[in-house]
Amino acid sequence: MTPERARDFTGFKNVLKRPVLRAIVAQALAVAALLLYVQGSVALGFPLLSLWPKIALVSSIAVGLTIAFRLPKWWIIIQAALPPLVYLGIASGLPGWSFGLAFAALFLVFSNVAGERVPLYLSNATVWHALARFCEPDKPVRFIDLGCGLGGTLFALAKANKHPDSTFWGVETAPFPFAVCRLRAFLTGDPRIQIELKSIWDVDLKDHSLIYAFLSPAPMPDLLDKAQREMREEAVLISNSFEDPERPAPEQNHLEDRRKTVLHIWRGPPSKGSAK
Ligand SMILES: C[S@@+](CC[C@H](N)C(=O)[O-])C[C@H]1O[C@@H](n2cnc3c(N)ncnc32)[C@H](O)[C@@H]1O
Repeated sequence: MTPERARDFTGFKNVLKRPVLRAIVAQALAVAALLLYVQGSVALGFPLLSLWPKIALVSSIAVGLTIAFRLPKWWIIIQAALPPLVYLGIASGLPGWSFGLAFAALFLVFSNVAGERVPLYLSNATVWHALARFCEPDKPVRFIDLGCGLGGTLFALAKANKHPDSTFWGVETAPFPFAVCRLRAFLTGDPRIQIELKSIWDVDLKDHSLIYAFLSPAPMPDLLDKAQREMREEAVLISNSFEDPERPAPEQNHLEDRRKTVLHIWRGPPSKGSAK
């Protein structure tokens, strides 16, 4: 996270800008509503709902608040599933440490969701082919995947471009994807591939000629600022699916995959303001 963005999150007023906190507040309010309902029904002598309708009530309220809090759509699934899963976990009599273990596993894979608002999802083979067109096999390329996940994109491009002077860098801060990617790099034995446990904000983009990012809408304004400061004139930045609506890419490539992926392409540093 850039210092500017970090400042955005300081101060009590801005705490709820963090999606994960809004999600927790939504769940807490849903549970509070259930307790109120139970208290009220007991006090007034109304019949109480049975267990599963009560759980469905908590899920529905949490989902309603998630929509009201304008969280990204995928949070709706998490918020709906959480109450029954927590109940099933408790009812199954699993030991307390198993919840800690599950949380640790989620953290290792998805640790960038809370801070960067970027989850792990992977580019597909159609995207790899589209990217390969930007690194001709007989010309050296200095490729970097910002947030390389499990490394699929990186390895596909290294396979497509065999030039000995090419380099394929990946940076990743989520521990599990980083470890998998590093292991895969080690197993390929290709010295042109480098994987670093490093934030995208600590990379100097001027060292790279083809810069790829598949992140989320949240970091895009900062990423474009960074690219504007650091990218070389002849370098190309490609963002899978996401851009800054304030600064649309001058070029877009619409792919024929199931997701109808759009690649947003900047040839040279993105300019401030509108598309070049
Ligand atoms: C949507 S995935 C894309 C993975 C891979 N680039 C691909 O296309 O298959 C985004 C990745 O960026 C990582 N990420 C998010 N913020 C990051 C940061 N500041 N520094 C390094 N990696 C980051 C996440 O952990 C996640 O693995």
